[in-house]
Amino acid sequence: MSSSFFHTKIFSFLVALLHLKCLLLPVESTSPSLITDKEALISFKSQLKELEPPTLLSSWSNSNSSPCNWTGVTCNEFRQRVIALNLSGFGLEGTISPHITNLSFLGSLQLQNNKLRGNLPPQIGNLFRLTVMNLSSNSLEGEIPLNISKLTELQVLDLMSNKISGTIPEELNHLSKLQVLNLGRNRLLGEISASLSNLSSLTYLNLGTNSLSGRIPGDLGRLGNLKVLDLTINNLFGTVPSSI
Ligand SMILES: *[C@@H]1O[C@H](CO)[C@@H](O)[C@H](O)[C@H]1NC(C)=O
Ligand SMILES: *[C@@H]1O[C@H](CO)[C@@H](O)[C@H](O)[C@H]1NC(C)=O
Ligand SMILES: *[C@@H]1O[C@H](CO)[C@@H](O)[C@H](O)[C@H]1NC(C)=O
Ligand SMILES: *[C@@H]1O[C@H](CO)[C@@H](O)[C@H](O)[C@H]1NC(C)=O
Ligand SMILES: *[C@@H]1O[C@H](CO)[C@@H](O)[C@H](O)[C@H]1NC(C)=O
Ligand SMILES: *[C@@H]1O[C@H](CO)[C@@H](O)[C@H](O)[C@H]1NC(C)=O
Repeated sequence: MSSSFFHTKIFSFLVALLHLKCLLLPVESTSPSLITDKEALISFKSQLKELEPPTLLSSWSNSNSSPCNWTGVTCNEFRQRVIALNLSGFGLEGTISPHITNLSFLGSLQLQNNKLRGNLPPQIGNLFRLTVMNLSSNSLEGEIPLNISKLTELQVLDLMSNKISGTIPEELNHLSKLQVLNLGRNRLLGEISASLSNLSSLTYLNLGTNSLSGRIPGDLGRLGNLKVLDLTINNLFGTVPSSI
C-alpha cells in the first residue's frame, strides 16, 4: 500500500469526522433532552424546601441558565445531559418527585443527609443507567419499590438510616453488579432471603438495626467477595451458619 493512498484515506476520514461534527453539534445544543432534564429538575425542586441558608438550589431557575451549571448538577460534556446529582447535606426537606426519573442519563443520585420523607417513587426503575444511589440519612418511608430491580447497572445502593418498612424484595437479586447494599437502620421485616446470595459482586452487606426475623441463610456463604456483613440488632435466631 503506498503512503499517499494511506494519507488520502486518513484525510477523507478526517473530512468525514468534521462533517459529522458539524452535523451533530447544532442538533445537540438545541437538544430537547437537556430541556427535559431541566424540566425534571425544576419539578423535583418544586417539592423541596431548603431548611436553612445557604440556599444552594437558588441557581436552579427557569431562566436561560443551563442546568449543567446548577449547584449539585453534573453533565456529560459531550452530550450535555445530566449524569449526576449530588445534593448531599443540602438541608432539603420534602419528597422525591417521580419527575426525577425523567433524568434518563443519570448515573449517580446522591441525596443523603437531608430530611427527605415519603416513598421512593416506583418509577425509579426508569433510571436504568444508575450506578450509585445514596439516599442514606433521610426520613424516607414505605417499601423498597420492586422496580428497583430494573437498575441492573447499580453498584451502590445505600438507604441506611431511613424509615423504610416491608420486606427485602427478592427482586434485588437481579442487581448482579451490586457491590454495596446498605439497608441498615430501617424498619425492615421478614426473613433474609437466600436469593441475596446470588449477588456475587457484593463486598459490603449491612442489614443491621431492623426487625428481620428467622435464621441466617447458609447460602450467604456463597458471597465470596464479601468483606463486611452486618446483621446486628434484629430478631434473628439460630446459629451462624458455618458456610459464612
Ligand atoms: C455559570 O454560572 C456562573 C455564575 O452564576 C456564570 O458566571 C457562568 O457564566 C455560567 N456559565 C455558563 C456556561 O452558563
Ligand atoms: C457530594 O457533595 C458533597 C458536599 O458538597 C461532597 O463533600 C462530596 O465529595 C460529593 N461527592 C461526590 C461523589 O461528588
Ligand atoms: C416525567 O415524569 C413524570 C412522572 O413520572 C411523567 O408523568 C411525565 O410524563 C414525564 N415526562 C417526560 C417528558 O418524560
Ligand atoms: C414497574 O415495572 C412494571 C413491570 O415491568 C411496569 O409495568 C410498571 O409500569 C413499572 N411501574 C412504574 C411505576 O414504573
Ligand atoms: C453514602 O453517604 C454517606 C453520608 O455521606 C456516606 O457515609 C456513605 O459512605 C455513602 N455510601 C456509600 C456506599 O458510599
Ligand atoms: C440464583 O440464580 C440462579 C441462576 O441465575 C437461579 O437459578 C437461582 O434460582 C437463583 N437463586 C435464588 C435463591 O434466587
